[in-house]
Amino acid sequence: MSFILETQDLRHDFKGMKVIRGVDLQIRQGERHAIIGPNGAGKTTLFNLVTGMYRPRHGHILFKGQDVTKLKPYKRNRLGMGRSFQITSLFEHQTVFEHLRLGILSRMGVRYNFFKPMTMVKGLTEEVDAMLARVNLSEYRDQWASLLSYGKSRALEMTLTMATNPDLVLLDEPCAGMSAEETRNAVGLIRELTTGKSMIIVEHDMDVVFSLADRVTVLHYGKILACDTPSEIQKNKDVKDAYLGHGMKKQ
Ligand SMILES: Nc1ncnc2c1ncn2[C@@H]1O[C@H](COP(=O)(O)OP(=O)(O)OP(=O)(O)O)[C@@H](O)[C@H]1O
Ligand SMILES: [Mg+2]
Repeated sequence: MSFILETQDLRHDFKGMKVIRGVDLQIRQGERHAIIGPNGAGKTTLFNLVTGMYRPRHGHILFKGQDVTKLKPYKRNRLGMGRSFQITSLFEHQTVFEHLRLGILSRMGVRYNFFKPMTMVKGLTEEVDAMLARVNLSEYRDQWASLLSYGKSRALEMTLTMATNPDLVLLDEPCAGMSAEETRNAVGLIRELTTGKSMIIVEHDMDVVFSLADRVTVLHYGKILACDTPSEIQKNKDVKDAYLGHGMKKQ
């Protein structure tokens, strides 16, 4: 069994408050893995440790077998670890097309350069257009990215994350705040874009979790309570108990 990502006895605290208390996570090559758990369980903190936003107090993170515990986020990204990021005001005055083009350029390692005509990068326009078509955003190609609906802007964000062609993608609550229809579209898009890749998704919407995940890890007070297939997790008594008062439904 080869793991794309492993954490070994990972621990983290904020000013002495233990938030991650010895997490051994094993993400298989090519699997879609969900991390669930009540609010405050440590899910986002775990993502921040894995992607390098925080340095853990203790333990190791192995990515593709390499110890990346001390690597900066951009170096982990270069090794093939991607995470979604919010569209920032920096990109406010860019069209959907321009926004995605920037993402693809960064994948190619070309820094955005005002003095270098974009048309010099051969095949780029075609690649951006193909990607827009793949994610059903072609009709918004020449609109300002900042004017997209919430669901569409999250779709663009997701597409941008995938534009760097990561082998492992981490998505933190990609469907938060979406309507039922936006959520359905997002699930389809996530499935399409992560085919053949490994993914870790943190999500409160159990419909999303159980329709996407091959395996589910339940995090509870900074520890792994269970890690199993979706059907086993749904039957697990410890998991049900942990969710008492929270409900394993939409929050
Ligand atoms: N930067 C920080 N400084 C101090 N405490 C923090 C920080 N980030 C998170 N925490 C605390 O650590 C705990 C875990 O937070 P975290 O955001 O990882 O939880 P979560 O599982 O992602 O929750 P949610 O489901 O609400 O997103 C919480 O008690 C939170 O208040
Ligand atoms: Mg969180």
